[in-house]
Amino acid sequence: MIKISPSLLACNFARLEEEVRKIEEGGAHYVHVDVMDGHFVPNISVGFPIVQALKSITKLPLDVHLMISDPDRYIEEFAKAGADIITVQQEACIHLDRTVRYIKEQGKKAAVALNPATDIRVLEYVLPMLDMVLIMSVNPGFGGQKYIPYSTEKIKALKKMIDKMGLKTDIQVDGGVTVDNCREIKAAGANVLVAGSAIFQSKDIKETIRKLIEY
Ligand code: DX5
Ligand code: ZN
Repeated sequence: MIKISPSLLACNFARLEEEVRKIEEGGAHYVHVDVMDGHFVPNISVGFPIVQALKSITKLPLDVHLMISDPDRYIEEFAKAGADIITVQQEACIHLDRTVRYIKEQGKKAAVALNPATDIRVLEYVLPMLDMVLIMSVNPGFGGQKYIPYSTEKIKALKKMIDKMGLKTDIQVDGGVTVDNCREIKAAGANVLVAGSAIFQSKDIKETIRKLIEY
């Protein structure tokens, strides 16, 4: 089943609740929250208060993507704030095994994101513990960037690795996902699509989500 996780980074934050209603009515499966610290990535976005506020207005699972250094310091607090899926960047974790266990101990789904240049093989040993792997198809930090074409090969290789190990791990793709390239991304093996600009800048959000699912 294909799941859509709209990235709020591209929404109108002055009307956050209305934007959330639009994606709920449009059939989104998750709400993707991009947390940036101005250190791991060259941008700053939102933190605990926004996750908490979102939790109070929606029943959709909060898919919290931590683009922050040393995420261990904040995992417990994001879990308490209402995150349902917590994604850490592999490049930000010195002790990834410990970080993944820590997320699971909070009773949350654990995911690891890989920057475009990071080899999927870094996940070989922790893969059985993960609920989801996030393939970054742009360099993290900003919405509205172009999909990096080699990401498709990476998704295929990851899908092969997951199948070979007999796992059911979700494959999420984030960055530059549009109605024009979603078919290729899904055919490669991805089943969770993050889209910011493609959804929030479209005239008809419901129609765009439908296309992202069905194309
Ligand atoms: C990028 C973020 C993405 C971003 C996607 O650093 O992780 O979630 O908001 O935005 P689009 O879909 O516009 O590329
Ligand atoms: Zn993201």
